[in-house]
Amino acid sequence: MNPSPSKVFITGGAGFIGSNVAKYFLERNHSVVIFDNLSTGYMQNIPSFLNVQFVKGDIRDKELLTKSMAGCEAVLHLAAAVGNIRSIENTVEDSEINVLGTLHVLDVARHIGIRKIVYSSSAAIFGELKRLPIDEEHPTTPDSPYGVSKLAGELHCLCYAKLYGMDIVCLRYFNVYGPNQCYDAYGNVIPIFSTRKLKGEPFVIYGDGEQTRDFVHVFDIAQANYLGTTLSNVGGIYNVGAGQSITINQLADMMNEIGDQKPVPIQHVPARKGEVKHSLATIEKAKKILGYQPTQTIQAGLKGYWEWIQSVS
Ligand SMILES: NC(=O)c1ccc[n+]([C@@H]2O[C@H](COP(=O)([O-])OP(=O)(O)OC[C@H]3O[C@@H](n4cnc5c(N)ncnc54)[C@H](O)[C@@H]3O)[C@@H](O)[C@H]2O)c1
Repeated sequence: MNPSPSKVFITGGAGFIGSNVAKYFLERNHSVVIFDNLSTGYMQNIPSFLNVQFVKGDIRDKELLTKSMAGCEAVLHLAAAVGNIRSIENTVEDSEINVLGTLHVLDVARHIGIRKIVYSSSAAIFGELKRLPIDEEHPTTPDSPYGVSKLAGELHCLCYAKLYGMDIVCLRYFNVYGPNQCYDAYGNVIPIFSTRKLKGEPFVIYGDGEQTRDFVHVFDIAQANYLGTTLSNVGGIYNVGAGQSITINQLADMMNEIGDQKPVPIQHVPARKGEVKHSLATIEKAKKILGYQPTQTIQAGLKGYWEWIQSVS
């Protein structure tokens, strides 16, 4: 077994998930280099620890990547153009960042002699669902350019692992939520509902609200990244979810119960085309091989998120 890497390189470490992953490593006394172009990340997300270094750069800049990665022992690759809608609006850029950018990261790591890579993949690679719960063998037929580019990134990772004997872990995240997740035009439901609750505006639900999602807390995503990095020879693909799902109606009710504010009304509008009805991960493989164990209940996670969003609003 190799010793745990003392210095890790985190692309996208100023973003929502990357900053939580960075914090997880820093709290365990690792040194961290964050490499991020700040396109959707923020300097204020970067945890303030002595052993963190920030490099502003683009993963398509091979020269800067090479200079910045030197001296690191593992790479956690989270930088990406994120989201289905964004990718439909900017298809070419999506692939330039998520496919070519990923190849640059892999190639620079290989040349420097870094064997351990943890790649952030997404449940968006599955596309239309054939069965539930979703295991790692579920067919991958993505229906957005984002799903395609994240899948291509995974395939390049697996190919590099085979060709060059690298130890590469691909983590397929389901619906991630938690601190540092901001509302934006492509936002996820929890930041959107929280922002509406802050303003006393109704929760808008598409369709009957009986669609289900596997919401996984970002602390558990950080845990999976840590395990994938510090364990040796665990290369392969893993689902990372909570392994439980709730309906959007249940989510709205839970969010209305948090805090002492008056509940906001719930408004139903027609369902959105192309949206999957149900999502639920099987996480048995990650549990068995990585020792992954979700630690955050949805109730506790939503309460924590609500406290966080109030503190930054
Ligand atoms: N949020 C989710 O629910 C979710 C679900 C599945 C997978 N993922 C994956 O997790 C990773 C992190 O996503 P996130 O939700 O934290 O998004 P995010 O947008 O907050 O983070 C992405 C980070 O990458 C940086 N970045 C983007 N393009 C870059 C480039 N060309 N060079 C350098 N840095 C660049 C951004 O500035 C940002 O800090 C992504 O790989 C994403 O595909 C996220």
